[in-house]
Amino acid sequence: MTRPEANGASPTELRVRPVDAADLGQVIAIDAEATGLEKTDYWYELFHRYGGGRTRQRLFLVAESGDVIQGFIIGEVRDWEFGSAPCGWVFGLSVRASARLGGVGARMLEAICDGFRHAGVNKVRTLLARDNSLVLSFFRSQGMMAAPFIPLEKDLD
Ligand SMILES: CC(C)(COP(=O)(O)OP(=O)(O)OC[C@H]1O[C@@H](n2cnc3c(N)ncnc32)[C@H](O)[C@@H]1OP(=O)(O)O)[C@@H](O)C(=O)NCCC(=O)NCCS
Repeated sequence: MTRPEANGASPTELRVRPVDAADLGQVIAIDAEATGLEKTDYWYELFHRYGGGRTRQRLFLVAESGDVIQGFIIGEVRDWEFGSAPCGWVFGLSVRASARLGGVGARMLEAICDGFRHAGVNKVRTLLARDNSLVLSFFRSQGMMAAPFIPLEKDLD
């Protein structure tokens, strides 16, 4: 549940809805604040592919209070990839620094999980950097557990 008066995000006003093109400036700023990179082209491309509620399978949601975008979450249903039955994947999540610890992240995760259920799946997964203890704490607090997968990589010369 969203808690009251936490760092600028009033719970009574908070609304989670599909992203609009007009939100992208604030989404880019929130991402830049968290990652230190302003990836304008990336976000417009992502909006083109995931925005506007084009399919049930792809979700790009924002949390808004008043005119202010407090955070965003992005995910999609992947069918039979990585050898698993269709499930929802969350691959982008950020809350404006001044609005954190107010339940905004939890509200957005709940909303995207509702979207995944609506799309017909009953499991949600995500992937995060091993040393990102903040994001790990958040997902653990929302009931997410270690999954039976191992990520692998190698350098391509
Ligand atoms: C992770 C993140 C989305 C959490 O959003 P939030 O709105 O602050 O989270 P909530 O207020 O909904 O917190 C829910 C729970 O998560 C856990 N949590 C959140 N922030 C935490 C922190 N700083 N330390 C420990 N636990 C934390 C707590 O268990 C919390 O519940 P509690 O407040 O009852 O203890 C936010 O901190 C964020 O955007 N971080 C940066 C993310 C990032 O790096 N994105 C780029 C790569 S994807």
